[in-house]
Order: sequence, then C-alpha cells, then structure tokens
Amino acid sequence: MRSRADWAGAGSRNPTAAAPYGWHRAPCLRGTMTDETSASPEDGWSGEGCPASALARRSFLHGAAAGVAGVAGGAASGSGEALADTMVEIKEQPKSRTVPFHGHHQAGIATEPQQDAIFVSFDVTASDRAELTDLFRMLTARGRFLTAGGKPPEVPPTATPSDNGIMGPTFVADGLTLTVGVGASLFDDRYGLSTRKPVQLVTMTPFRHDDLDPSLSQGDLLIQICADHRDTTVHALLDILTHTKSAMKLRWRIDGQRNPERPVGVRRDWFGFKDGISNPSVTDDAQMNQVVWVQPKGAEPAWAAGGTYHVVRIVHFHIEAWQKVPVAQQERIFGRRKASGAPMYAVDENVTDLLDPIYTNDPQGLITPLNSHIRLANPQTPQTAATSTILRRSYDYDRSPNPPELDMGHAFVCFQQELNTYVAMQTRLEDETLVPYISPRGGGYFFALPGVRDEKDYYARGLLT
Ligand code: HEM
Repeated sequence: MRSRADWAGAGSRNPTAAAPYGWHRAPCLRGTMTDETSASPEDGWSGEGCPASALARRSFLHGAAAGVAGVAGGAASGSGEALADTMVEIKEQPKSRTVPFHGHHQAGIATEPQQDAIFVSFDVTASDRAELTDLFRMLTARGRFLTAGGKPPEVPPTATPSDNGIMGPTFVADGLTLTVGVGASLFDDRYGLSTRKPVQLVTMTPFRHDDLDPSLSQGDLLIQICADHRDTTVHALLDILTHTKSAMKLRWRIDGQRNPERPVGVRRDWFGFKDGISNPSVTDDAQMNQVVWVQPKGAEPAWAAGGTYHVVRIVHFHIEAWQKVPVAQQERIFGRRKASGAPMYAVDENVTDLLDPIYTNDPQGLITPLNSHIRLANPQTPQTAATSTILRRSYDYDRSPNPPELDMGHAFVCFQQELNTYVAMQTRLEDETLVPYISPRGGGYFFALPGVRDEKDYYARGLLT
C-alpha cells in the first residue's frame, strides 16, 4: 500500500544538492553592475550572453572590476580583493531530468511528485468543435516541447519573442509534467460532446462543511503543471497562456509546493503531520489498473480508457486555531503520531511510519478514534473496502493575500478510477474531528485524459474524433 519506496527511489529527488564548481558567471559589466539580461542589440551586444570562453570571461571581468573599483572610489584599488567583490559564486546548475511525455497514461499521476505545482482551471472559449480540437492540438504541441526542454525558435530581436525567457535561452526539462483534464461543463451543448461524457463526471457540489467560492471552483479544463523548480512551472504556464488565449480563459489557479521530508520518510503538511504515507503502490500495475486507471470495456466510454478521475480541492487551514490544539489531541484528530507519522499504537518518537494502522483490536476506537481522519478515510471494514483507496498527490499552498489572515492550506489532489470512491470517502470525512480546522473553498472534479501515445497523437483525440 505504500508509495514512498516507489516515489522516493528516484535519485533525482534532491535536484538542488550539488557542489559549487568555482568562480563563474560574473555579471557582464558595462560601466555599472547590471544583469547580463539588460544588454540590448543597440549596445552592440550579441544577445548570446557573456563571452563564451572562461578565459575571455576572466579578462573581461578583470577590466570591468577595475572599472567598478574606480567608480566606487578605489575602495580596494584594483587588488584581487576588488576582483573577488565583483564576481558571483554560483552553484552548479541543478540536474535536469526528463519525464516522458508520450505514454498510455499522462505523466503527473503515477510519476514521482515534483517539488512545485500549479493547478490552473480554464473556461474554454473555442467557438466550435474544430477550434476545440485545435486547442487540444496546441496544448499537445506545447506540452511535447516544454517537457522535453530545448531551444525556442530564434526570432529577430525586433519580433515578439518566441519564449518568455524565464529559464534562459535554452530551457531544461526539469522534470516538468503537464496533466490535462476535462470538467463536466465541457460536455454541455457547445461542442456536441454530451454523449461522450465519462459516466461519473459531474460538477462538484458542496459537502456539508464546504464553503465553496465560485471564482475558485469548477472549470471546463484543468491543467496540472508540476516540475522540480518554480521557474519551470511558471515558464510552462506563461507559455501555455500565450499560445492558447484565443480558445480558453483562466478561471482559477492555485500554486503549491511539497515540503522536504523531515527528518525522513514523507513530507509534512502545514499542520506538521507527515502526509502521503498510505497510498497505492504506483509501480504495482495490477493495483493501479484496479484503483486508478479507467479500463477498456467497462462502463466508461471507450475513449476514456487509460484516463482517471482527477479531484482537486482547495482546502484552507485554520492554522492559528490548530496551533492551540495540544499535540496529543492533534494526533487523535489525524489518527497518527505527529513526530514519527506512525500509527497511534506506536509511542516511540523514532519509530518508522511504515507500520500499518490496525483496527482489529480496537473496535471502539480507544487507540485510533473512530472519527479520526485516517479511520474515516479508510475504516478497514468490509463495507468500506471498495471506497477506501485513492491515489493522493497533494501540494501545500501559502498565499496569504489579505493579511492578517493566513491563507495557507492544501491543494488536495487525488486520482481514482471512480469518482464515486472519492465522493464516498469525502462524505465519511464530514464527521471527522478535523472539520473545525479546515475550510474547503474551491477546486473541482475533472477527468484526466488518457496519455498522448506518440508523435501523431494529441490530447483528447479519442474524445473528439
Ligand atoms: C485537506 C486536508 C487534509 C489533510 C491535512 C490530510 C492529512 C492526512 C494525513 C496527515 C494523513 C495520515 C498520513 C497518511 O497516510 O498520509 C492522511 C491520510 C489519509 N487521507 Fe488525508 N488529509 C486531508 C484531506 C483528505 C481528503 C479530502 C481525503 C479524501 C477524501 C483524504 C484521504 C486520506 C486517506 C485515504 C488517507 C490514508 C488512510 C489510511 O489508509 O490510513 N484526506 N491525510
């Protein structure tokens, strides 16, 4: 039932851990200390960055350093010290990894969660089915290009740039994945798709304690953008917006990150609990086919095979109230130990979180309360067995736009073969003791499309043709 071993296995998990390799990349100085990006062709600048060879770079820096020292009043009068002052020590570039774009399933679901994520929902404005098809073709082309990394097409300096430049002149893949899903509203009468809707896809309606903000909810189309670094997700988002603005309009967006695993095991959420311990094994194909991927020849339309239901819920945390709750009570609310993440029967702070919760000797909930989060999510009873397994892949957000309110919380994300599994689980959680500390405010239900198989394929081809 564990994902950790699967997801943590990739050595690329810590892409920022790299040794410095020395003095490098001082700013290309032109009289004053400016960033190299401020140079322009009018200055006689080549547009290709700093001089190519390290030797050329050094000579250039020597001259520049002397110039700056002079301008600054000769504080270090041309000495090695002055030179050092003008040089920037940068670390080796983080390693970039590529997550394959083509496949039977989309990436960003069973692939290892990256550190950064943007969830962005759109209202589609394409005027007809042909334009909708063009939109999906365009999204495919951008996804294929962005997830591979490369050099954007060169354009004359007087033309609109072909790339936003956020990642420099040549961008790396950086573990980028795009995961595209469609909402129930796309199947209204605009595009003639109503008979092709996944059978369980509905518009999200509020659960008992929800406080849904319409401007943060629903959407015709969802794109989940995940990567190892923030600049990569933003680069991809801006690229997509630029290339698709005639056919879709941004509806809502939530950005999230995953905290490091401290001290070991699984990341912690803003409540300080290890989150994501019990999950299906993403390397167990049989389990994934049973729990996550829609199978051919079932109740779903044929085109949907290989896809999955994608739930995103924007859940605000009442952090200040939570911080007043004694740890022993916090643990009874979640049903796990806070420090170790282990089940409630394990009292040693250093015990592993790999132990499974067991309720057979605790029918009354004396050890793990019956209304604790994990026990309601997965009560381990025959009656709930069919609705107790989903693949969680959540991120934490912190956006606090209106101080003093802290707007921190969870972009709760899960994938499942049947949307009804999530709905049943969430309905059970209406009775959890976590309720006073969270407010679900937005999100939606989507169907993550089957993967783009190869160079000829495109997102939603099966749905549209
Ligand atoms: C939004 C606030 C939520 C927070 C802070 C939260 C946090 C946690 C934590 C700390 C655990 C225990 C460690 C683990 O197994 O990962 C857990 C487990 C779990 N959560 Fe949540 N969760 C939230 C929402 C949800 C929702 C909305 C669902 C589904 C409807 C859900 C389903 C589960 C499941 C299935 C487990 C594992 C239960 C087990 O098999 O032991 N959680 N969650």
